[in-house]
Amino acid sequence: MKIAVSGKGGVGKTTLSSLLARYWARKGYRVLAVDADPDANLGSALGIDTIGLTPIAKMEDLIYERTESKKGTVGGFFKMNPKVDDLPEALSREKDGVRLLIMGTVKKGGGGCICPESVLLKALINHLVLYEKDLVIMDMEAGIEHLGRGTAQGVDRLLIVVEPGQRSIETADKVRQLTQDIGLRHISAVGSKVRNSDQEKFLRDNLAGIDLIGILPFSEEIARADLENRPPSLDDPEIYGAIEKIALTIEN
Ligand SMILES: Nc1ncnc2c1ncn2[C@@H]1O[C@H](COP(=O)(O)OP(=O)(O)OP(=O)(O)O)[C@@H](O)[C@H]1O
Ligand SMILES: [Mg+2]
Repeated sequence: MKIAVSGKGGVGKTTLSSLLARYWARKGYRVLAVDADPDANLGSALGIDTIGLTPIAKMEDLIYERTESKKGTVGGFFKMNPKVDDLPEALSREKDGVRLLIMGTVKKGGGGCICPESVLLKALINHLVLYEKDLVIMDMEAGIEHLGRGTAQGVDRLLIVVEPGQRSIETADKVRQLTQDIGLRHISAVGSKVRNSDQEKFLRDNLAGIDLIGILPFSEEIARADLENRPPSLDDPEIYGAIEKIALTIEN
């Protein structure tokens, strides 16, 4: 299963991605957590030190070798199916069953980027061969721009994180519209930082056409963990309960 996590800035995408990754790793899945946000911080949410870990987009030689393109010929022809199956092991770091891979910054071009970095990143997700009990979870950059580059095109399911408020609902709606264009059909919403039943109701009432599959409530433990620069405890009963519910819904 390949899952991408999207939504407005600051809603809790990285937090949710990291908790789901750790939950599934505990359940015996081999989890590849992909930080697809140029402003990468999934590593700190997972408690994985990223110093010295090279982002895929920075591996110039590798990109050009695997995409068979030449430097300075951005926009030229290159092979659309670079060999990527062997990338994750070499370019990632593992902790407690979660393997982290950082994509890095992809150059942006007008009218949809087709630069080699973007092709490699897309191919990586599309062609990763998953065996039973393998799972990929991608923490996307905030907003909708990544959908134009199609980085999440090969995923099975897109989770849109929403917090109680009109602006995150608006972003969710734009994401939903754009996913139709790229043929991504399994989209669902997860509520984040929800403080009471009125806020949950707000989300249920306002998410037109997107199934709300779970809620990660506002959590003092999550807030404290960020202040202390450590991953939130998955043993916190409120967090564990919420994440388990979301995970089971996705699995079924
Ligand atoms: N359920 C929650 N309860 C309390 N605080 C939360 C919760 N979820 C996220 N936060 C806090 O909100 C802030 C933003 O969270 P996070 O980094 O996960 O969001 P994001 O959507 O990934 O942001 P960005 O768009 O910058 O990538 C962090 O300080 C985080 O600790
Ligand atoms: Mg984030």
